Amino acid sequence: ARTRRYSFNVTMATVTRLCVTKSIPTVNGRFPGPKIAVREGDTVVIKVTNHINNNVTFHWHGIRQRRSGWADGPSYITQCPIRPGGSYVYRFTVTGQRGTLWWHAHFSWLRATLYGPLVILPPRGVAYPFPKPHREVPLMFGEWFNADPEAVIRQALQTGGGPNISDAYTFNGLPGPTYNCSANDTFKLRVKPGRTYMLRLINAALNDELFFAVANHTLTVVQSDANYVKPFAATTLVISPGQTMDVLLTAAANPSSQAFAIAIAPYTNTVGTFDNTTATAVLEYAAAAAPPRKAAALRGLPLPSLPAYNDTSVVANFTAKFRSLASAKYPARVPSTVDRNFFFAIGLGADPCQSPVNGTCQGPNNTRFAASINNVSFVMPKTSLLQAHYQRRYKGVLMANFPTAPQRPFNYTGTPPNNTFVTHGTRVVPLKFNTTVEVVLQDTSIQGAESHPLHLHGYDFFVVGTGFGNYDASNDTTRYNLVDPVQRNTISVPTAGWVAIRFVADNPGVWIMHCHFDVHLSWGLSMAWLVNDGPLPSQKLPPPPSDIPMCS
Ligand code: C2O
Repeated sequence: ARTRRYSFNVTMATVTRLCVTKSIPTVNGRFPGPKIAVREGDTVVIKVTNHINNNVTFHWHGIRQRRSGWADGPSYITQCPIRPGGSYVYRFTVTGQRGTLWWHAHFSWLRATLYGPLVILPPRGVAYPFPKPHREVPLMFGEWFNADPEAVIRQALQTGGGPNISDAYTFNGLPGPTYNCSANDTFKLRVKPGRTYMLRLINAALNDELFFAVANHTLTVVQSDANYVKPFAATTLVISPGQTMDVLLTAAANPSSQAFAIAIAPYTNTVGTFDNTTATAVLEYAAAAAPPRKAAALRGLPLPSLPAYNDTSVVANFTAKFRSLASAKYPARVPSTVDRNFFFAIGLGADPCQSPVNGTCQGPNNTRFAASINNVSFVMPKTSLLQAHYQRRYKGVLMANFPTAPQRPFNYTGTPPNNTFVTHGTRVVPLKFNTTVEVVLQDTSIQGAESHPLHLHGYDFFVVGTGFGNYDASNDTTRYNLVDPVQRNTISVPTAGWVAIRFVADNPGVWIMHCHFDVHLSWGLSMAWLVNDGPLPSQKLPPPPSDIPMCS
């Protein structure tokens, strides 16, 4: 194992997309940011220096951070922000995981431009459980806003309404030829006939789940969220914000064309407006005689067929295919018993209209949009929860009384109650070390049912069950998969449905769990687990690094 060192200098840089030139926050002047590439077992040291005029923190999305919670990064959860001019060194060891993850800023909406891949290769000499691909290519999906994303969320929070939507989807930062002014900003994947490529897919979009397909090519899914899965073939993938997926693409021996379109388009049940555009990249065959296609020619490539934007059955069928490898070499250690059960009703809600703009709030029925878990809309504290926990100074910072079940049970997939106002608080769930937890995440129909990609920090969880309608413990538990359920860090709670997850709380610290739609996170769709130390020295949270930023 090695130590891999990186310097992340957060600077403003000028970037042009869709004919709009603007200055955006970047890491080392690059957009998207640099790739972190390590091997399982390595220690990673990233020195972040903040040269922009805003606070920032970084999160290594999916890294387990065993006993290194100080490096997890969500602002006000595990650290105070790195202020302008400040710096902080993130240090963690990658143990027991490999595959594709990613990193992103975890303050306000800065992750719109501050993100990059984090690739974990197997230890030297250890093979993949599938044939070694000829080449591996990270492919990050993002959203481009012509406006400043910070202004977009600021305005939404002020007016109480939904935020303006993005202007384009992107492949590795490039919108591609379906948008104005963008044919020269097209991502091209060059392949050789007959070779197999591994695409490391990452959905870094702020607020959209995405369909993904490559015209005339079938993909084989081998990994999700840095966990191996039983390989399966698919022509259309669905990937939620925060999720990663490794897929194999075998280039045809005799392709019918020199180039094929790669496409992403939104999957949503949102009633309001959303970015309903399709973005494309190009799969280009390297043939000795064929010169690369000119920008103008890219527009004409036939699109792969994609489902309708609200085709929930395609999504459910695809999601059901994910299974852990569960082999002798890669066993699935699914907890067969549970110490504590939680039922979380998640979704949108409302706040009273307090500071109307021009006499009105732009949320439903003259309210302000809010989001909640069990009716509690999470309030970011003014200091870091992990620090408060380490110093055992909880008073005035957090309350250990997060409800384990909804405060107002109702028919979650039917008509919502009249009063959809939420309560507010920095309330957390304390857990004893090594508690086996089951959480049923139930989508609610308040403000229209829509799916919510829930992400848990510090853990991978097993997805033991899922279904549509209201969760019914007496029937649904009997259908749980405790043999080979997929292990992930982000799962989309289906529209008008539920999902059940299990994890063992064996990593002491404070771990946020939240919707990976940034707008829902801003509206309070999150909560935190406070996992206490175990009795052994190896089960305790070490002291914070000396350079950890202070909130003052
Ligand atoms: Cu990828 Cu808390 O986030």
